[in-house]
Amino acid sequence: MTYSRIIGTGGYLPEKVLTNADLEKLVDTNEAWIYSRTGIRERRIAADDEFTCDLAERAALNAIEAAGILNNEIDLIVVATTTADQVFPSTACLLQHRLGIEGPPAFDVQAVCAGFLFAIDVADKFIQTGSARCALVVGAETFSRIIDWSDRRTCVLFGDGAGAVVLKVDNEPGILSTHLHCDGKYKDLLYVPVGVSRNFDRIKTGTAFTTMQGGEVFRWAVTAMSDIVDETLDANGMSRDDIDWLVPHQANIRIINAVGKRARIPAEKVVVTVDRHGNTSAASVPLALDEAVRDGRIQSGQHVLIEGFGGGFTWGSAMIRM
Ligand code: UT7
Repeated sequence: MTYSRIIGTGGYLPEKVLTNADLEKLVDTNEAWIYSRTGIRERRIAADDEFTCDLAERAALNAIEAAGILNNEIDLIVVATTTADQVFPSTACLLQHRLGIEGPPAFDVQAVCAGFLFAIDVADKFIQTGSARCALVVGAETFSRIIDWSDRRTCVLFGDGAGAVVLKVDNEPGILSTHLHCDGKYKDLLYVPVGVSRNFDRIKTGTAFTTMQGGEVFRWAVTAMSDIVDETLDANGMSRDDIDWLVPHQANIRIINAVGKRARIPAEKVVVTVDRHGNTSAASVPLALDEAVRDGRIQSGQHVLIEGFGGGFTWGSAMIRM
């Protein structure tokens, strides 16, 4: 059998830190509300001249270095992003050029905060079917660009960043399974009502903002991300005790804790970065994965369940043997 295996992880956060105290100066909010309702203390914000591809490149270079490969060994690039630098070319094409790679496929996928799971799934299938041998998979966002900084219901939640993994072909798994879901009937609960084809004038006036029914999204995120733990375990004939680490999407500590409780996974096994990163959308899972690999918590041979949930709704998971 042919499998894909993670051989390197990387992450990058922009330098600028935006604290809850900073937000108190922008909107009618306070540290106590933000921390108690979300678990977020601070988030990073890209510089004015820093774009999603810049973040993706830094995370990709970290992952490539950790993997110990040459750039030209990469024969597939998949970038998960909702905040592409340009309408086209894709961020993946821009990144490919930055890395000095010519020829192999490079494309973006868009599933908002679940995007990295979709990107991993696609790259894993390319490798399993022999269409690629070494894939760079990136989640990168400048979500701060689609936030209304006068809306306290959303602006306290999000941040910018990028995470990446290098996947390589192997005889041993690797990625044990991937699970993806969408349900477009929830399109009006979490969305940006603007695109190239619709309401484009709002892009020109800089008012293309994220809109959210927070309470509804919260409930669905908990249900979807805890149910998919069972789906993932069942697919692999594993029990919850077999999970060494859960790396969930980092939107809100209350969502993460509720998922852990409902899925009966002890808090000590759950990787949390939301306190320092906020919600970085497609970047949140690979950033959290990278942090726990680099600080030595996640060890080779361990089983890691990664999962995401986002607008659409979209949700997904992967069971990984590191
Ligand atoms: O990646 C997926 C994307 N999004 C998410 O996962 C977010 C999911 N939702 C959530 O995380 C939570 O629903 C929020 C953090 C957004 C909100 O928490 P909540 O406990 O659901 O609060 P709420 O919306 O019920 O608001 C409670 C009160 C309201 O005041 P009233 O109407 O009770 O007087 C809000 O106006 O808190 C008020 N409020 C704030 N107060 C201070 C809302 N935002 C703020 C704020 N600071 N930033």
